[in-house]
Amino acid sequence: MQRRGLVVGNWKMNGLIETAQELVASIREGMTEREELRFPAEVVLCPPATALYPVHQWLSGSSIKLGAQNMAPEPFGAFTGEISGIMLRNVGCRYVILGHSERRRIFGESDDLVARKVAAAFRDGLAPILCLGEDLAEREANNTLEVVAQQLRHALQSVGAEVKWRQLVLAYEPIWAIGTGHSASVSQVTEVHDFLRDQLVEFFGQETGDKIRILYGGSIRSENAAELFRVRNVDGGLVGGASLIAPDFLQILDGCDQSG
Ligand code: PGA
Repeated sequence: MQRRGLVVGNWKMNGLIETAQELVASIREGMTEREELRFPAEVVLCPPATALYPVHQWLSGSSIKLGAQNMAPEPFGAFTGEISGIMLRNVGCRYVILGHSERRRIFGESDDLVARKVAAAFRDGLAPILCLGEDLAEREANNTLEVVAQQLRHALQSVGAEVKWRQLVLAYEPIWAIGTGHSASVSQVTEVHDFLRDQLVEFFGQETGDKIRILYGGSIRSENAAELFRVRNVDGGLVGGASLIAPDFLQILDGCDQSG
């Protein structure tokens, strides 16, 4: 891999303080056994907002990084219930997942809102993990590449030229594969990731386009991780359900080691 691998655990709306503490302790211990500091991939945990600060403290002295699952585009103000990028930085976050399909579908986040959030993440010093992906009807109508290209174009529209683009992370997450136990096939993943790489190079030029990491997400398990991570242009994974079980998550991390 010419890019450093990245595996992100998206806990979604799971994890009370006690269970979060146990999970973090087990992952830390497993990472230590794997010689955390020389581990080939970067590891990021994205707990729910209520656990961010304690998880940050439990990760202190470790190479594991912290990320959030969402953020508001505004820095401060009268936005009841929202959390800004500055606040996320304040509790130790380095990454933020944006445009996840659950946010787009359940909470009605538009492409425009996602674009504002991406710009705000850069402004606030967070690396955005921008999620893209088609639903089953779009795939069956052969519209996958068009859908992800549009989502990408939209999301990047309001970001200034001065931004450090190479910190951007894309996550290709076919909606039909999320939480279903059925990941996309190697050939499906290859096609979309190669296409996204071409799009990035077109957008940013060869040098930067080659540096941006593209993750796969959607039913990554210990059994399929190594195979998926070996795919050209797959630089790691965004893991949902399996990131809540320490042994499973650690085995997925081992998939990075085996991906060559
Ligand atoms: P899953 O979720 O691994 O449970 O399919 C992935 C995601 O939604 O990021």
